[in-house]
Amino acid sequence: MADVELKHVSKRYAHGRQTTETLRDVSLRVGDGEFVSLVGRSGCGKTTLLRIVGGFVDADGGDVLVDGSPVTRPGSDRGMLFQHPMLFPWLTVLDNTLFGPRATGRHSPQARARAMELLQIVGLGGFEFHYPKQLSGGMMHRAAFARAMMAEPKILLMDEPFGALDALTRAGMQQFLLDLWNRRRFTVILVTHDVEEAVLMSDRVAVMAAGPGQIIETIPIDLPRPRSYEMSETPEFVQLKRRVRQSVERARGKAPVSVMNPTAGH
Ligand SMILES: Nc1ncnc2c1ncn2[C@@H]1O[C@H](COP(=O)(O)OP(=O)(O)O)[C@@H](O)[C@H]1O
Ligand SMILES: [Mg+2]
Repeated sequence: MADVELKHVSKRYAHGRQTTETLRDVSLRVGDGEFVSLVGRSGCGKTTLLRIVGGFVDADGGDVLVDGSPVTRPGSDRGMLFQHPMLFPWLTVLDNTLFGPRATGRHSPQARARAMELLQIVGLGGFEFHYPKQLSGGMMHRAAFARAMMAEPKILLMDEPFGALDALTRAGMQQFLLDLWNRRRFTVILVTHDVEEAVLMSDRVAVMAAGPGQIIETIPIDLPRPRSYEMSETPEFVQLKRRVRQSVERARGKAPVSVMNPTAGH
């Protein structure tokens, strides 16, 4: 079991004497093995929300529960992947993958064997002793992915993990993640700008509005699984994409744009 529950979560940040209300009354339940995406314009609090679930940032109000227990700090039950892979440049791919077990004193021949196996799974067999600078962007992402999976997290939190990749590499990574999730069914919260990516991958898409960050709508994506890119031209897919896009547009309308903006209201 690994479900995530956010109940009436709020968060403010202080900037000198001013405070920004980043999240207001955010509630969301992500079931065990469910794949949920968060979409919304930049600045609406997606990263903050993900960091709160990760235990890297404390909420000011509300409850954040994983399997019914309050989140107080990061834990190996929750893996986190960022937009930039953040590999240690001085470590080989294998040693990057083994960083977690080493840091927590759990390095063992078994851990090494598992790292080798994971690197095979992500398609980096033969690159175990390469350094990050010898890898392409997509390969670095797959190495970061293997590292995140080393702890066998029940929950994977991803913050625009493919945003910096070119279109072809991104499509490859999406398919890779879909296939892996199909086999393992871990719980996923994926933050993305990309509406098509959200529809392709998710069971549900939560749409956020900014100022303050709120979830305005959660849209079920009832497309069959397993999924692949070929589906993206089906009428059902196109329809869902339109629905999510319209919701994101509505969210934009809700957000107080700058008072200087003469086009507000159009
Ligand atoms: N560490 C921080 N300190 C101060 N303000 C922050 C911090 N993190 C985020 N914010 C503010 O919270 C808002 C939402 O940020 P963020 O969660 O990064 O949104 P998103 O990921 O949707 O772009 C922004 O206005 C940002 O300035
Ligand atoms: Mg962000």
